[in-house]
Amino acid sequence: MRPRVTVIGAGNVGASCAQRLFDKGYADIVLLDIVEGLPQGKALDILQCGPVVGSDSSIVGTNRYEDTAASDVVVITSGLARKPGMSRDDLVLQNMAIVKGVTEQVVKHSPGCILVLVTNPLDAMTHLALKASGFERSRVIGQSGILDTARLCSFIAAELRVSVKDVTALVLGGHGDTMVPLPRLCFVGGVPLTELMPAQAIDRIMMRTIKGGGEIVDLLKTGSAFYAPSAAVVQMVDAILLNERRVLSCAVYLNGEYGIKDAVVGVPVKLGRGGVQEVVQVKLAPAEEAALKKSAAAVREITSIMKL
Ligand code: NAI
Ligand code: 2OP
Repeated sequence: MRPRVTVIGAGNVGASCAQRLFDKGYADIVLLDIVEGLPQGKALDILQCGPVVGSDSSIVGTNRYEDTAASDVVVITSGLARKPGMSRDDLVLQNMAIVKGVTEQVVKHSPGCILVLVTNPLDAMTHLALKASGFERSRVIGQSGILDTARLCSFIAAELRVSVKDVTALVLGGHGDTMVPLPRLCFVGGVPLTELMPAQAIDRIMMRTIKGGGEIVDLLKTGSAFYAPSAAVVQMVDAILLNERRVLSCAVYLNGEYGIKDAVVGVPVKLGRGGVQEVVQVKLAPAEEAALKKSAAAVREITSIMKL
């Protein structure tokens, strides 16, 4: 029997996640949305890719939580997306009600699942889902750092005209303007980025990474990014269901790690069977640590609006 992945929200990110997972062929997928016909139509369309991409996965579109029962992983993408001029944080009150209700329904039908949060503001919504689910923190994980790190790696590869395969980087902190890309921990084929690029160019790339989501919102005008976000989500689902023990930057509830308590913040974690197997602690320079704490404070401020 294949593992079962439910994706809540059949919009841009959710449907792209469902398609990427379907193409891989190792899981059966349920796609749920409140809009009648939308998940059913998209699921049918994706199912008909099967003969072309060689996937025997099943995919079902639904508006009923009963159909999501006994899922192993549930990806929550339901909610409003940013429009030009909006920050991710502007979405907090609108998306709070949606994520709370969705989480309660999901947990009722899949009490053993692992939740992967995508809805923005990501860190606050992950905190909300943690509280609403009553799950231990290892089973409630937000997607942010993989996307932000991928953006940084793409910009470095383009600037240096090298393969993205040889670029590694790390972005910590909240999924917002206070995120903390770490130039000291960027490498190209094992060579520190700081030896390959002038400081001014590094600063420019770090700033472009921080504004990476907004750059796409400004271009699209009617919504936000979804191709790279869905690729990032599927990397998390792979790591969990295939027990890959990947070390990836994810948003998790911190309980003293990095000197931060009672906040969901992006840090490297070991991701495998059961979800977060370990919060990986990196020794930070004083300025990096200060930036991470500032980011955690910004996340706490947004989260406090919800009075959890
Ligand atoms: P979208 O508007 O294309 O899709 C959202 C879907 O959620 C819609 O189909 C809508 O009908 C559905 N929905 C709304 N309320 C629902 C409910 N109560 N139950 C079930 N479904 C419901 O938006 P998109 O682009 O897919 O983005 C979704 C969310 O993900 C947004 O909050 C966006 O800001 C966030 N996002 C987060 C990223 C991250 O890195 N964490 C990256 C990209 C987007
Ligand atoms: C992004 O970073 C909107 O959070 C989304 O593209």
